[in-house]
Amino acid sequence: MSERTCLAVVLAAGEGTRMRSALPKVLHPVGHQPMLAHVLGTVEAAGATDCVVVVGPDHEAVANEALRAFPKAGIAKQMQRLGTAHAVLAARDVLARGFDDILVVFADTPLIRAVTLRQLREALAGGAAVAVAGFTPADPEGYGRLIVADGRLQAIREHNDANQAERAIRLCNGGLMALDGRHAVALLDRIGNANAKKEFYLTDAVALANAAGLRAAAVEVEEDEVRGVNTKAQLAEAEAVLQRRLRQAALDAGVTMIAPDTVHLSADTKLAADVTIEPYVVFGPGVTVETGAVIHAFSHLTEAHIGEGALIGPFARLRPGAKIGKGVKIGNFVEVKQAVFEDGAKANHLAYIGDARVGEGANIGAGTIFCNYDGTAKHRTEIGKGAFVGSNSSLVAPVSLGEGAYVGSGSVITEDVPADSLALGRVRQVVKEGWASRLRSLKAAGKKKE
Ligand code: UD1
Ligand code: MG
Repeated sequence: MSERTCLAVVLAAGEGTRMRSALPKVLHPVGHQPMLAHVLGTVEAAGATDCVVVVGPDHEAVANEALRAFPKAGIAKQMQRLGTAHAVLAARDVLARGFDDILVVFADTPLIRAVTLRQLREALAGGAAVAVAGFTPADPEGYGRLIVADGRLQAIREHNDANQAERAIRLCNGGLMALDGRHAVALLDRIGNANAKKEFYLTDAVALANAAGLRAAAVEVEEDEVRGVNTKAQLAEAEAVLQRRLRQAALDAGVTMIAPDTVHLSADTKLAADVTIEPYVVFGPGVTVETGAVIHAFSHLTEAHIGEGALIGPFARLRPGAKIGKGVKIGNFVEVKQAVFEDGAKANHLAYIGDARVGEGANIGAGTIFCNYDGTAKHRTEIGKGAFVGSNSSLVAPVSLGEGAYVGSGSVITEDVPADSLALGRVRQVVKEGWASRLRSLKAAGKKKE
């Protein structure tokens, strides 16, 4: 099958008004990735070398996301919503280039898996002209029914057009379709709109193929895979299914999770074997964790890299550009942004480290703030290897500490500190002996007068 060429036609012209959102429906994320990007990644994994995304009018943002996720994608515009077959034909020029397999998928059905698309392609390789994904929903209301007779898929009847007996059929159309490229355009051109919705139904390709002496096949899939998203509630259901899949994949890959149901992952989270994730950890997009690292409870990570054996949290916040080296410790209530922690460095408690490099083995004391922002611009802080920053210090960037330098607790550091020196940037302590007892006796005298 691998030598068969494959074009994916991704229908993304949906209006999405039931989402009640300014964001186009197919750009809503699941697992921190737009639904459209999921579908494009899946068609690519299923072997589609080419792809056309069919968008509605005024859908520039959808087209842009399509090109980001699948740079070679073509964009076709469907100016009027006249039905799924009409939408596919918006890509007529590309269809006519001649592909062995044409896959039609919906951009609002993000959970479809590449293995399923491959099964549909295998049905084509096995001689079917049309292959569809069938499933048995808990509630078949609204779905097209698969009409099977003599062990063969004869037709798909849309819910609105189905009679009583047909509505009793439980096997439904999941919406995906694979078409033999040699017949696709001819079949699609023959589809009419004499039906309840006055739409050009893609599903009519099945009956037309049979009428032309071609064969149609159905491949059974689970309901979760063909779950379409039209509302925010369905978006949340799709998210739940995806999260279950991501957690299961992580566990299968050797990640330890004590309470997997409480861990929130992104579609692109990369966790090595023997990483431990404690309960209630949130992974935003772009996080990679190397082996042996432990992410303690209630940590929140986004666009961060965590090196081998690093210990993070509890209650740590790693923001974009956090690069955490081997054996680093980032403790509770520590926030890191655009900062590199070289191997073995530590910030164990209550600190903000932004726009910085913290050298190998350096120690950032409790309550240290890297003052990186002056109200208009961001500035960098460099901490040399083995340097020690005493607790409750402020490092006012741009500033650097040389290797092995010390900063006394409570300092405000505004000038560079050379290697191996001590910097103190605080008011010298004053001690007034006997002052407290004098105060107490004054107070006592005052009380007697009353
Ligand atoms: C479709 C199937 C139905 C199946 C169901 C599964 C058809 C005719 N019916 O019905 O058999 O059980 O999906 O969920 O295909 N679209 C366009 N342009 C159009 C019309 C639709 O791009 O003119 C896109 C929509 O944005 C959506 C997809 O095609 O992504 C499906 O359209 P929709 O109207 O939701 O079809 P259903 O009635 O759900
Ligand atoms: Mg639908």
